[in-house]
Parts: sequence; C-alpha cells; structure tokens
Amino acid sequence: MKTAFKDIQIVSRLGADERTLAFDVLDGLTRPFKEIPPKHFYDTEGSRLFEAITKLPEYYPTRTERAILEADAAHIVELTGMAELVELGSGVPTKTLLLLDAMREAGTLDRYMPFDVSEVVLRESAEMLVERYPGVRVFGVVGDFERHLDALPPAEGPRVIAFLGGTIGNFPPGSRRRFLRSLARALRPQDAVLLGVDLVKDPARLEAAYNDSAGITAAFNRNMLAVINRELDADFDLEAFEHVAFYDREQQWIEMRLRALRPMVVNVRKLDRGVHFANREELRTEISCKFTRKRLEADLAAAGLAPLEFLTDPEGLFALSVAGPAR
Ligand code: SAH
Ligand code: AVI
Repeated sequence: MKTAFKDIQIVSRLGADERTLAFDVLDGLTRPFKEIPPKHFYDTEGSRLFEAITKLPEYYPTRTERAILEADAAHIVELTGMAELVELGSGVPTKTLLLLDAMREAGTLDRYMPFDVSEVVLRESAEMLVERYPGVRVFGVVGDFERHLDALPPAEGPRVIAFLGGTIGNFPPGSRRRFLRSLARALRPQDAVLLGVDLVKDPARLEAAYNDSAGITAAFNRNMLAVINRELDADFDLEAFEHVAFYDREQQWIEMRLRALRPMVVNVRKLDRGVHFANREELRTEISCKFTRKRLEADLAAAGLAPLEFLTDPEGLFALSVAGPAR
C-alpha cells in the first residue's frame, strides 16, 4: 500500500495478512516461561501511553537524550554532513526536531524517513513535519525494522540512520548484534548510525524509572493484553495481572513482566486456544538493556561498525553514539 500527500510518501509493509502477533502469541504463550516481544505494546493507545511515560519525573531517558541533542545536534550534523535522516522506531518525533533544525541551519536538510509499526502516529508525525519544514520530503515506512529495512529507498545524499530513545536496548543481546549488522549492511561509506543508549547506573534510579508512582508504566505494560484481546479476540482480564519491573544486575537490563494474581485460563479465540496461567505466574513483556561505553563499542565492532563519537550528559545517565561502517 502506498499513499502520497503533498511532500509525503508512506509505504506500508504491515498488510492485512500480517500474522506476527498471532505467531508471537502462539509461540510466546505456549512456552514454559511465557514471553511476548515489546513491539506489541505499540497500538495507538500504547504509543500515547509511551508518550506519557516520557514526561514522567522518574523517566529520565527522554529528557536526558533531548539535553544531549540540544547541546550536540549541530556537531552531529557537521560530523556526518547528513542530508537524510532515517529514524527507526520514530514514534512521536519530538527530539528529532532538534536534529532537523540543525540540518536546516546547516543547509543540508533534504529528506526525513520515519519508520515505525504504529501507523497512526507515523502518519500524524509526517504531516506535522512537512508543515514545520516546508520543502522537506518525508518518506515514511509503516513496518517492522527487524524485517523491512529494504523498504527504505536508496540514499541520495549523506544518510544517518537514527535509533533514539534507547529502543536498541529492547533487543536481547544476540538479536541486537544481528540487527546492528543489518544496519551496517545498509550503510554506504559516507553514511552513519546514531544510537541512543541508556547507561548502567544506580539500580534504584533505574527501577524508579520503570515503576512510576502515577502507574503509567503499569498501564503501558497491561496495554499489551488489551492489544491481544482486540486483535486475537482473547479475554485477558487486565485487572488480574500486576505490573512487575526490576533490574537484573547480572544481565544489566530492566525486565518488565505481568504477574497473574490468580490461576486462570485465558481464551484466545482467533488461535482456538486456552492458555493456562498458574497463580503468580509471570509473562515477560520487555527487557531494556543498559549499556557501558565498552559494551556498546564491542557490539558495534561485532557488527562491522566503527565508533566516531560518544556523547553523554554531565551525570552520565544516557549516551548518543555516532558510528560509521568499519573500513
Ligand atoms: N523514538 C521515540 C519513541 C521510542 S518508543 C523516542 O525516542 O521517544 C519505541 C518506538 O519503536 C515506538 O514508536 C514503537 O512503535 C516502535 N517500534 C517498536 N518495535 C518496533 C519494530 N519492531 N519495528 C518498528 N517500530 C517498532
Ligand atoms: C522504547 N523503550 C526504549 C522504552 C524503554 O525504556 O525500554 C520502553 C519503556 N518501557 C517501559 N517504559 C518505557
């Protein structure tokens, strides 16, 4: 499917026959340790809830990454000469405006390419951007960045592929390196990647960021069950699950789970299955890896990427890494 509106082009790779949620639910709920991947949080409601999380006092990553961009966006543009910005998992692209402003100021801004599974949010952001930056071309991809990177058109000028917000941390380590390799393969010598990563820090600070006092992260977590209810005609009782988030010090990641508060059988009608939960049984919904510079640079090297710059805030909470293809 393809739509054109003024300077906007959007291609969608998530067609009606998209069976990923069904496969992930069937696979993930029939394992001894139940697990569903985090991309299924993000229907329109899930994207709004994430947006609310970014404004919480406890959730420091978004505002810290924004502060790094406020200080360093012009430097990133100068270093890369970027004329095209691809943004994976773009969501509501507010921090991105700092990069686009810096590109406009440097006179390089030509094309913005948001890429997200969440179609409504992607369309809204494309419209907001063509109004804010007259003359910029927007090419959006509604798709899964693990499977559909080939939907991006060939680069016409120096291209930066940005992956902000720490979303790279939502991959388990093996898939993360595979994914970084796929990005490295998509780069020409003059292109670069820009990765936002959350850094290892005091576990209390990390745990507070995922257990906010307003309960928004809990609602975001439970929203995955609402997505399954709607898309697969299931009957999860959202009230029968509690939000769990803790820092695993050995793995250096935050883990989010949903814990059943009673034994139950959930019917997933579209899969023609009943899924049993024991009392206090847990379903893992997300990991969010925290990095050190060393760990990130080992991942980059394993993927065929060479670090060009490592930018952080004065407290060392979050970092932006610029990397290019290794020679
Ligand atoms: N970049 C924004 C949003 C981060 S939230 C920020 O920094 O604040 C993560 C975003 O990635 C969501 O918009 C979600 O819809 C998108 N996303 C998650 N998994 C995805 C996948 N596999 N393919 C494409 N987009 C994905
Ligand atoms: C999108 N991603 C980087 C967020 C994170 O912090 O891992 C998602 C999130 N989960 C709970 N709060 C925010």
